[in-house]
Amino acid sequence: MRLSVIGCGYLGAVHAAAMASIGHEVVGIDVDERKIASLSRGEAPFFEPGLTEILTEGIASGRLSFTTDMAAAAGAKVHFVGVGTPQQKDGYAADLTYVNAAIDGLLPHLSPGDIVAGKSTVPVGTAAGLAPRVHATGATLVWNPEFLREGWAVQDTIDPDRLVAGVPDADSDGEAANILREVYHPAVAKGTPFIVTDYATAELVKVAANAFLATKISFINAMAEIAEVSGADVTQLADAIGHDARIGRRFLGAGIGFGGGCLPKDIRAFSARAEELGRGESVGFLREVDAINLRRRERAVEITVSALGGAVFEKKITVLGAAFKPHSDDIRDSPALDVAVRLHGLGASVTVTDPAAIENARRAHPQLTYVEDRDEALRDADAVIVVTEWDEWRRDLSPEHASTLTAGRILVDGRNCMDAAAWRAAGWTYVGMGRP
Ligand code: UGA
Repeated sequence: MRLSVIGCGYLGAVHAAAMASIGHEVVGIDVDERKIASLSRGEAPFFEPGLTEILTEGIASGRLSFTTDMAAAAGAKVHFVGVGTPQQKDGYAADLTYVNAAIDGLLPHLSPGDIVAGKSTVPVGTAAGLAPRVHATGATLVWNPEFLREGWAVQDTIDPDRLVAGVPDADSDGEAANILREVYHPAVAKGTPFIVTDYATAELVKVAANAFLATKISFINAMAEIAEVSGADVTQLADAIGHDARIGRRFLGAGIGFGGGCLPKDIRAFSARAEELGRGESVGFLREVDAINLRRRERAVEITVSALGGAVFEKKITVLGAAFKPHSDDIRDSPALDVAVRLHGLGASVTVTDPAAIENARRAHPQLTYVEDRDEALRDADAVIVVTEWDEWRRDLSPEHASTLTAGRILVDGRNCMDAAAWRAAGWTYVGMGRP
């Protein structure tokens, strides 16, 4: 099928390449000339495992191309809209400027029978507002939220755990939904749940999922706060409650909390939208979720200061991690970098290393020192703090080896991902988050 993808950021670039990899003919369109030039050369503009491979294959096969010219969308059967919906500069609500611009730019190139499939995360009610403009061209608007995780984006797009299609009332599980089933044919053929809903439900599925994940993380971080004053161990607590299949162990990783381009802004936009709808109290707990999350960053700083005897001024601290999570170079709202910046603000001499995110981090926070080589970064450190759980230290750094490099023997584990017993046995002071 011929497809267009409007917006070639994280979501759009991966979607375009993944759709080409399952046999479609895809044009990706974006206003950013540099991004388009890089994608056209088969180079991913961000770090995402597996993306370069499917970009190169798609371009070589002739099924995948990129352009800044919106007119290239003409002739495609389905037009995916995957532009950003960032937090507004002066409030919590989502900024829909790019969604509106994408739809307006697309309208002149639509033909009757086309499908416009919105993938961006939007406040509930957005699709209903956009539909009349799309439907006036004879095309049909569907809302098809995306659940990909950075670091696993290619796999999540080709083989998602569910597909959701929000359709207009008139189409309830008709033509538009069937066309989307054809688009996602490999997943549909293997029995992936395909859920057809109205617009509002589809929009809410997306924000509800992210709100639930954020709540789960903040729940366990709240337990970490209690563990800290009662002497309990939050990781054992998470293991124990996680065995209950109704609870589940995933997303019960206590530490410095969640960040990234989605969870923080999505829970804030959800709160703002609920307020607009007169139901702010229904998701009032999301403010608490946000507050708990932000407190953990400060707590990691306190723990580090206290481990260093009450002051970090002129102490050499190596920060392991900058990305908001491993397998990503994304530093948007990164708790890891936030902790590094706060320690620097207290006068510490901070050296940051990260396998993928140094370039982005340096651009955002040039005041910190960045070292690519992990061992070089560890050299002469008074204390080490783990803030992103990359395998490069979680799995591959032994305390014995670290001891040959650092000056001090203090390890603060902001992700509870290191082997506490092994580090202690090697003579290190190990301090976790919510652990005795
Ligand atoms: C999140 C959702 O997981 C995806 O399903 C969704 O599609 C995506 O947002 C989106 O809306 O586009 P992502 O932002 O890639 O995906 O990252 P997650 O894997 O959800 O991690 C978010 C943050 O939570 C990271 O900072 C991570 O370190 C933190 N986290 C995660 C914890 O602190 N503890 C955990 O147990 C798990």
